[in-house]
Amino acid sequence: MSAEYQQLTHHVAMRDGLPSAIRPTLLEEAQQDWKAHPRFAGKARFFMKIHRQLLDGADWLADRTEQLLDTPQSTLVDQINASGIQQRTAHLLHFAHGHHEIEDHGYFPQFIQLYPNLEHAMQLLDGDHKVLDETLDGTETGLADLMRNPNRDSVGLLHRNAAALKKIMHRHITDEEDIIIPIFLRHG
Ligand SMILES: [Fe+2]
Ligand SMILES: [Fe+2]
Repeated sequence: MSAEYQQLTHHVAMRDGLPSAIRPTLLEEAQQDWKAHPRFAGKARFFMKIHRQLLDGADWLADRTEQLLDTPQSTLVDQINASGIQQRTAHLLHFAHGHHEIEDHGYFPQFIQLYPNLEHAMQLLDGDHKVLDETLDGTETGLADLMRNPNRDSVGLLHRNAAALKKIMHRHITDEEDIIIPIFLRHG
């Protein structure tokens, strides 16, 4: 990860939106016009649907682990089993890694070829994926720990990871859509 990415203005866990140096490089389609665009029904809508599923999964995990923080030890195992947390989290991790893989190796290199000005924006998203992958790995470790040893500490660890994941997933996806949806609107 570059030194520039690590700055407060760039890092996905610390920035409030797209860095000001990147905004002017974006294609100009305004967000309020996306859904009315004749090509919205193609990849733009498809990617936004995938993103919604990722956000819903991250929101669910953060909420569910927060509820488990208040669950007494005597019913914790039952609650964990009833919640389906193991299966749903495993699905979220697999789905998120797969999505990043497709973007990093399929779409982003094509976008840089089409629009060389977007190279800086793509580097930002690539840096975000590295941070997201670390947090997904932390969530995987936290889940394994919870399943092996269900107690207040393991719930707390998984919850901290899930809360971090939720925060950076929302930041990343909001900024990523500002960068990539206008490209899909031009190219279908
Ligand atoms: Fe994405
Ligand atoms: Fe992404």
